[in-house]
Amino acid sequence: MDGNGRWARSKGHPVSFGHRAGVRAIKRVLEGCERLGVEVLSVYAFSTENWSRPRAEVRALMRLFHETMQREIDEMHRRGVRIVVSGRRDELSQRMRERIDEAIARTSRNTNGVLNVCLNYGGRAEIVDAMRRIAAEGLKPEQVDEAAIAARLYNPDLPDPDLIIRTAGEHRVSNFLLWQSAYSEMLVTERLWPDFDVDDLKAAIAEYASRIRRFGGRPDSEPNLKTAGGARS
Ligand code: IPE
Ligand code: MG
Repeated sequence: MDGNGRWARSKGHPVSFGHRAGVRAIKRVLEGCERLGVEVLSVYAFSTENWSRPRAEVRALMRLFHETMQREIDEMHRRGVRIVVSGRRDELSQRMRERIDEAIARTSRNTNGVLNVCLNYGGRAEIVDAMRRIAAEGLKPEQVDEAAIAARLYNPDLPDPDLIIRTAGEHRVSNFLLWQSAYSEMLVTERLWPDFDVDDLKAAIAEYASRIRRFGGRPDSEPNLKTAGGARS
């Protein structure tokens, strides 16, 4: 969700104004996902690298996340959305962790879509954390395979993302879902995140639908017996 700062500055406002508009965009896009049948929406709210921003901005962002979770939880729950969080939670404040735990627990049995909030999230940190668990559990080298790693990611029940949308024209992965994005389609739009709306979402999905996904294979040929019926479809 990039471009909050540019959006705010272009209007002569402080960056925090852009972050607030960014939250409204999440609400819009989540509702659009519900209507369009997108089952999982992951939003990159705060990266492990974002701590290096000015102290006041970090504090304003944390306050915004806390306040938003508190304010929106009832409506999310009413709409049947399941909230999950990806990231290093032990580095967040206790009151933030309490909000997160509450949101996850309250919505855990909901089945009308998943909102995955990536908060203090880093793709490398996630892989490190998975490896630490593997080491702590004492797995033998031959027990460490892709399934063993995938099972120890923050939310192993979520499918790999089909489409990753990058706003504000940046062509970077920025440490987002490194493991899960191996075969994700990427889409870069110039739109600044606070301006991103349901029409942009529809356009992104239409673009996605026009792409042919090969997962490393050849689309027009008979599948090789060795890979036929493999893990990916
Ligand atoms: C949103 O946009 C970033 C977060 C979700 C923390 P930015 O704050 O990076 O916006 P720009 O890059 O300054 O425009
Ligand atoms: Mg940015």
